[in-house]
Amino acid sequence: MKKEDTYQLKFDTYSSIDELDQEDRDLLLKALEVSEQAYAPYSGFEVGASVLLENGEVITGTNQENVAFPSGICAERTAFYYAGTHYSSQKIKSVAVTAKSRNFEVNYPVSPCGSCRQAMYEYESNQGTPIKVIMMGESGEVRIVHSVADLLPFTFHEKGLKKY
Ligand code: THU
Repeated sequence: MKKEDTYQLKFDTYSSIDELDQEDRDLLLKALEVSEQAYAPYSGFEVGASVLLENGEVITGTNQENVAFPSGICAERTAFYYAGTHYSSQKIKSVAVTAKSRNFEVNYPVSPCGSCRQAMYEYESNQGTPIKVIMMGESGEVRIVHSVADLLPFTFHEKGLKKY
């Protein structure tokens, strides 16, 4: 028997970064600042990500492209993998992402790609507490979701695969 269900996503939209609380605003400003360091000679799409740890430290990352296109990596994963390497005992509170393009105006809050959602979910699932995702483009509108899981319905999460 067919049963129809719906998935509900709760998110907040702010018309300007100025409406955010200080913690979220500061994190987003760090993402904006680091986006200047993106290496995006192929797409011209420059992304910055900043990760707030529970001890207050902020890790930043940018997208790093490659002439062999699939070898490049997104800003979110650059930052998360650094945090996972150097701060594995620290929980992640939130991540801010922003992007600008050399070819068009990014007039919407940029949101993480599917691979980054899956990668960030690993950390959220391991730490057992939600990671807030704060997103902005060039237009200034900001979108916030309160966990990575919200961005990834029917997440692949086979616990049986984990052996170590
Ligand atoms: N990109 C990110 O860094 N994060 C995302 O969530 C979306 C896409 C990068 C990858 C590539 O360097 C460029 O943006 C265009 O896709």
